[in-house]
Amino acid sequence: MGEGLGGIGAATIDALMVAERARYIAAHPDAAARAGAGLPGFYQGVPMHWMRDWPMPFPFLVAEAQGATLTDTDGHVLADFCLGDTGSMFGHSPGPVRDALTAQAGRGLTYMLPTDDAIAVGRLLTERFGLPHWQVATTATDANRFALRVARAVTGRAKILVFNGCYHGTVDETFVRLVDGVPVNRPGLLGQFTDLTADTRVVEFNDLPALEAALADGQVACVITEPVLTNCCMVLPDPGFHTALRRLTRQTGTLLLIDETHTISTGPGGYSAVIGLEPDMFVLGKPVAGGVPASIWGFTDDVARRLDAVRAATPPGHSGMGTTLSANALALACMRATLERVMTVEAYAHMEALAARLCAGLSAAITAHDLPWHVVRVGARVEFICAPGPLRNGTQAEAAHAGPLEQAIHLALLNRGVLIAPFHNMMLICPATKVAQVDALITAFAEVACILARGKVGAA
Ligand SMILES: Cc1ncc(COP(=O)(O)O)c(C=O)c1O
Repeated sequence: MGEGLGGIGAATIDALMVAERARYIAAHPDAAARAGAGLPGFYQGVPMHWMRDWPMPFPFLVAEAQGATLTDTDGHVLADFCLGDTGSMFGHSPGPVRDALTAQAGRGLTYMLPTDDAIAVGRLLTERFGLPHWQVATTATDANRFALRVARAVTGRAKILVFNGCYHGTVDETFVRLVDGVPVNRPGLLGQFTDLTADTRVVEFNDLPALEAALADGQVACVITEPVLTNCCMVLPDPGFHTALRRLTRQTGTLLLIDETHTISTGPGGYSAVIGLEPDMFVLGKPVAGGVPASIWGFTDDVARRLDAVRAATPPGHSGMGTTLSANALALACMRATLERVMTVEAYAHMEALAARLCAGLSAAITAHDLPWHVVRVGARVEFICAPGPLRNGTQAEAAHAGPLEQAIHLALLNRGVLIAPFHNMMLICPATKVAQVDALITAFAEVACILARGKVGAA
């Protein structure tokens, strides 16, 4: 048996993948006929390239989705734990968002002018996230880009700092990685002729001496980070890491931008509220308008004062921030509905309880089959990792990634009625998720773990 991945022999992984592909193809005649050779008119047969990045031989077509349930055109009813990779973290078409959307549909969708909803949203954002100044954009990528631009403008510094393994959307300057300890442009970038490492410093998450050294010369405008790295498996901060990060950024006049786009899973105010982070800038995208494209970025009085001064001293022209559909009336109406009636304390209590149940169930299956894997949870976000844990930084997370094994597991789970996120092993609980759906995922995972455990490397 070959060396394998995640403690499982290569032959076992291959056999599972072959069997699950055949099962998927047989079960999806409609998708095979209409999407199997690609959707006509689209480059590579899909409207967005990552629709090909799932483990299925071809994507299925979604007929409808409601709450945590998704139905495909072949009639399969799936328990959805992917939830649009966080865009639908509060469930598909939550009732209040659907009502807001329907009402706004008859009043016009975008006018480049504010509405009553905008007045409500400004108040809601300040109350919920504690920062006094907000702007609305369309994606988390945009929000991060604009926040970084402001950070550079107000500090007069060009450089930013990221943690190895980060993802903040398609923000060019965050696409820097450590390879064998050396900063490089992130591998795989297309059309990237600029050396991004010229203005972006990168250190490992949880490495305080490296962080201190990288900030020491006072040239970094901003540290941008998720409070937990969620895009390279899941890497939790060491105890004291955030306190030290805040101290070091303050000591060096560096702004701290916390991107809560994924960690909003932690609670109504995000991870920042739970552990008392004090970011200078705050970003949240994806689910903030219940699945309608929108994002928010906010900042402190101090940043606002400094921004006013910079703007007063800058000649008229284009700020470099915009996009025509940002803060459109539809997005604001849906954001208001989400903040007022969907992202509630009660909703989070349900999500938290079921996520804890899922975490315990998956951990028990791993233990029962004596697999060298672990499970991490950040509120309603759960991830299993096919390697021992905990992981402490991006380099360890990259080493833990077990592509073919993970793809075989994903496809096997899908064939057993549960959908999880395609790029890594992430599962989200939404307010509509049922106990029975969580238990179905645990059962399916245990069944797949049992199949794989028979091919453990070193097993008799
Ligand atoms: C932490 C974080 N920030 C920002 C983004 C970018 O979001 P979007 O693709 O909606 O721009 C992502 C996307 O996964 C993310 O995980």
